[in-house]
Amino acid sequence: MTIQHFLQFRDLPAEEFQYLFERTRIIKDRFKRYEKYHPLVDRTMVMIFEKASTRTRLSFEAGMQQLGGAAIYLNTRDSQLGRGEPVEDAAQVISRMCDIVMIRTFEQDTVERFAAHSRVPVVNGLTNEYHPCQILADIYTFIEHRGPIAGRKVAWIGDSNNVCNSWLQAAELLDFEMCVSTPPGYEIEPERAGRFGGRVEQFEDPMQACADADLVTTDVWTSMGFEEENEQRRRAFADWCVDADMMRMAKPDALFMHCLPAHRGEEVSSEVIDGPQSVVWDEAENRLHAQKALIEYLMLGRVKGGG
Ligand code: CP
Ligand code: NVA
Repeated sequence: MTIQHFLQFRDLPAEEFQYLFERTRIIKDRFKRYEKYHPLVDRTMVMIFEKASTRTRLSFEAGMQQLGGAAIYLNTRDSQLGRGEPVEDAAQVISRMCDIVMIRTFEQDTVERFAAHSRVPVVNGLTNEYHPCQILADIYTFIEHRGPIAGRKVAWIGDSNNVCNSWLQAAELLDFEMCVSTPPGYEIEPERAGRFGGRVEQFEDPMQACADADLVTTDVWTSMGFEEENEQRRRAFADWCVDADMMRMAKPDALFMHCLPAHRGEEVSSEVIDGPQSVVWDEAENRLHAQKALIEYLMLGRVKGGG
């Protein structure tokens, strides 16, 4: 039996995302009605964190428990992972003792190598290159508020980072447009931009990127692992703060999203993130529901008839 991993957004075809969005809705509705749903009794997720997390840890751990299973947290400091055990060896051992693995780490290559030696599905919980679970929840949140995302326009303002890269993959698969504005020197890597052809347009002026957008989204100027660039980035990104003027360029009913944690007064103004167009709390909550659908799918396949 082939193992289905979720290491990048494009690991699944478009029709499987349509299934996952519908499944997320069912799982969320059921959870809101306090209905028990325990398809994963006696199943265990191992969560490996080499970087800090609030939302990702909580949503995977709570989600696994709510599905009737258990989650075990490992970090670099307290395990042999920080002492140079080869990732291939760790994958062999860990995947013999659990049913699914989630990893948050630095290089994408680490999750790819782990997956290549794993007996069980592996989920990318954020790498320097990608954050696919975030975009799964973000697109579900968009659909919940505004309906299908196909044909819509998403403005990405700021760093061309892991979250941006996953948005770009999603745009290609799910057929929506990305308008990206980054400061000079922080553009999308040329080979990535080329790959997405007609689905991505880059703008020097962030105001222009926001024009007629259905969704405006941003993220921190300095991602985890790049802290030594912080001061240089603060100077370079100063004009890439999503504020009320930028939001006014977008459609009147445009949504604002941020994966969080946010820095008010840097990448977004308080007026926007705490304002009426912001759906950041729904977005954060939907990590739980969307990832429960993802875990169920990776472990059990498509569930028929409402599960
Ligand atoms: N958005 C997100 O992944 O948050 P955490 O870093 O808190 O997990
Ligand atoms: N781009 C950010 C996302 C945090 C959830 C980072 O990698 O630090």
